[in-house]
Amino acid sequence: MVWKKVAKKGSIAAGKGREFSIDDKKIAIFNQDGYHGIDAICVHQDGHIAPGKLDGDIVECPLHLWHYNIKTGKLMDYLKDVTLQTYKVEVRDDGIYVEV
Ligand code: FES
Repeated sequence: MVWKKVAKKGSIAAGKGREFSIDDKKIAIFNQDGYHGIDAICVHQDGHIAPGKLDGDIVECPLHLWHYNIKTGKLMDYLKDVTLQTYKVEVRDDGIYVEV
């Protein structure tokens, strides 16, 4: 595992998510009650969840409104035992880092 710088500090607005391509992964990082990284692609039909509406810890996929917990990656509806991979995120003096 290595830490990679993905963005400048302050470049993910509070209460929002942004998607980043890091190596061969697409990771959504949310700035909501701290920073949280999860796989950016919905398991339903490959929707991009980073621009989804946030309600507390829950993000809604914009395509068909499936819901994920941004802290655990867990899918909250429709299918049991589906969890997106989570990633550690750190804000350092020189930027936002994710561990991949
Ligand atoms: S692609 Fe995410 S809910 Fe359908």
